[in-house]
Amino acid sequence: MSKIPAHIIDEIMQTSRIEEVIGEFVNLKRAGSNLKGLSPFTDEKTPSFVVSPAKQIFKCFSTSKGGSVVTFLMEKEHFTYPEALRWLADKYNIQIPEDEPATAEQMAAITERESLYIINEFAKNYFSQNLMESDEGKAVALSYFEERGFRKDIIQKFQLGYCINAGDDFTKAALKKGYKLEYLEKVGLVKTKEERSFDFFRGRVMFPIHSVSGRVLGFGGRTLFTDKKIAKYFNSPESIIYNKSEILYGLHFSKGDIIKYDNCFLCEGYTDVISMYQAGIQNVVSSSGTSLTKDQIKLIRRYTQNITILYDGDPAGIKASFRGIDLILEEGMNVKVVLFPEGEDPDSYSKKASTSELEAYIQAHTQDFISFKAAILLKDGESDPIKKAELIREIVHSVALIPDQITRTVYLQQIASQFDIQESIISNELMKLRKNVVSKQLQEPELAQIPVPMQTGNQPVEIAETLENNAENSEYDLIRLLIKYGTRVIEVDQLNELSETNKAETSVTEFICHELDKDELAFEHPKFAKIHQLIVEGLAENQLLSSTYFRQLEDQTIVQFVSEIESQEYELSSKWLSQYNISTRSESDRLQEAVFHSIYNFKSSKIEAHIRSIQERLKLAGDMSDEELLDALSEQMTYEKIKIAFAEKLGRIILR
Ligand code: CTP
Ligand code: MN
Repeated sequence: MSKIPAHIIDEIMQTSRIEEVIGEFVNLKRAGSNLKGLSPFTDEKTPSFVVSPAKQIFKCFSTSKGGSVVTFLMEKEHFTYPEALRWLADKYNIQIPEDEPATAEQMAAITERESLYIINEFAKNYFSQNLMESDEGKAVALSYFEERGFRKDIIQKFQLGYCINAGDDFTKAALKKGYKLEYLEKVGLVKTKEERSFDFFRGRVMFPIHSVSGRVLGFGGRTLFTDKKIAKYFNSPESIIYNKSEILYGLHFSKGDIIKYDNCFLCEGYTDVISMYQAGIQNVVSSSGTSLTKDQIKLIRRYTQNITILYDGDPAGIKASFRGIDLILEEGMNVKVVLFPEGEDPDSYSKKASTSELEAYIQAHTQDFISFKAAILLKDGESDPIKKAELIREIVHSVALIPDQITRTVYLQQIASQFDIQESIISNELMKLRKNVVSKQLQEPELAQIPVPMQTGNQPVEIAETLENNAENSEYDLIRLLIKYGTRVIEVDQLNELSETNKAETSVTEFICHELDKDELAFEHPKFAKIHQLIVEGLAENQLLSSTYFRQLEDQTIVQFVSEIESQEYELSSKWLSQYNISTRSESDRLQEAVFHSIYNFKSSKIEAHIRSIQERLKLAGDMSDEELLDALSEQMTYEKIKIAFAEKLGRIILR
């Protein structure tokens, strides 16, 4: 793939709306001028993930990740920088001119992860072409889907396909295309036995499984035979791009409606999702080729707190729904259940009924989990006191899993009144069970979330802060002003040839760079040094670089850092302002003072570092000649004087 031209990167960055893109992954709610939601990087329960549409940046306070829309896609989807840009270009219909095709070397450089994605994409297109265009596909597969009542537009939307039943038709096509056999095997599309490679999914209709953003991670393949000895579905194996327990089938298509209706319908299979979707109920997902996992529930929690389980009413479906209920309650979410008549699943039911009948069925049969469990367990023992006691214990068992105490209490009251039993009796039982739950959770702790300290620079500065810290802070503060206000204009004193001072206007960038250049000072922190270097290079070409420029760099450590600075709502200035007893409006109002002070701090911390190194030398004076000792002392005094002179000069300008 060729390099994306700079003006296209510009266009992509300017067209992309970070709130739209992140909105595809996170349920964002307005909070003042920002948007807020649950972090997609952790499984937090209170939102600490903030998106600023005005600044076009995001900040995740629980992981301290942050940056531009590109940073987000790189973090969330593991895209490379160009991939993220291409994804955005695709979303916003921006054409990227492709000059020459990739060389063999470039191909080799593409990572394994990338290769697997590319192969899956190829396979998806290949299978879809087979379905729609090949004689075999049309005759056996397309007709199968049609018979099942899948509409063409839905087949296309879900990118369904067919793998020709010829043994190695796909394998040959993929190898011819230049894909490595090793990778084809890793994604599970090709199997090799006794040196013969063949198509794992041959003769099956194909259901691509997408990531939230729509990349193909794997496939489910359904046989067209009714022979009970043949496994109905084959599924892709796990790979570095496909972690089954963290993926939900259909979420890519349904997340918008899940947010909109603040509810997620959870089904058992691929065809349930597709049929519900076709019937117009589009907030629907299923776990694909695995039984429901905790991580899948956490995935739903990013979009809604409410899950409605839609399972088949056979014993297997009921068992699965009991398990689902407990998993969902344990995550602190709300769960309801709809059982379909035995032998029916949402797919088969929706084929028999109209959309409105399906909706009516769901509405009429939605039960809270207590009534659902009660109805199932009490089926034939309504009056049997032992059965009733067992049932209550069973339900209280589920309630004990709920992390929130108030919610537990509310359910407890419901159980008491529903079964006509004293609250205190079940509350004792609940307490016992809850203790078990908690101690079990303690025994198998989840990977601990190590809290990452926020690096906002806004924290109050301790007086006893170390000198090293001071140096780092002063570097930070200066680079921060360069990024935040580099293009703004301030008034400075200028000496003319006659040593008279004139007032002159200059940009913050030019002023700071000039001051550093004059005294041959540089940033020590590598990231700051790199930013400074870019700014100096920009100046050499008469360009003032702004935060917008830095936000679109490939180096995401810089993007993240710049966004960090921009996301600081209130300003660091209050720190030095209070230190110097200046009451003020805001930093941006008193930009000149802020810049002067920052330069002063920067320079004096450098001088202090010098003085300290001299002091170190003096400590080892035993090894010094008198000559050297005197040199060092006078050097120290010079620096002390510079420091005082500098402070006075700045003091005069600022503390008038
Ligand atoms: N499944 C699987 N392997 C199987 C059977 C089922 O991975 N051998 C998974 C599939 O994800 C399937 C889901 O379990 O979609 C539900 O299985 P089932 O109800 O048997 O299939 P349906 O989705 O109803 O498929 P169909 O309507 O085509 O029979
Ligand atoms: Mn079915």
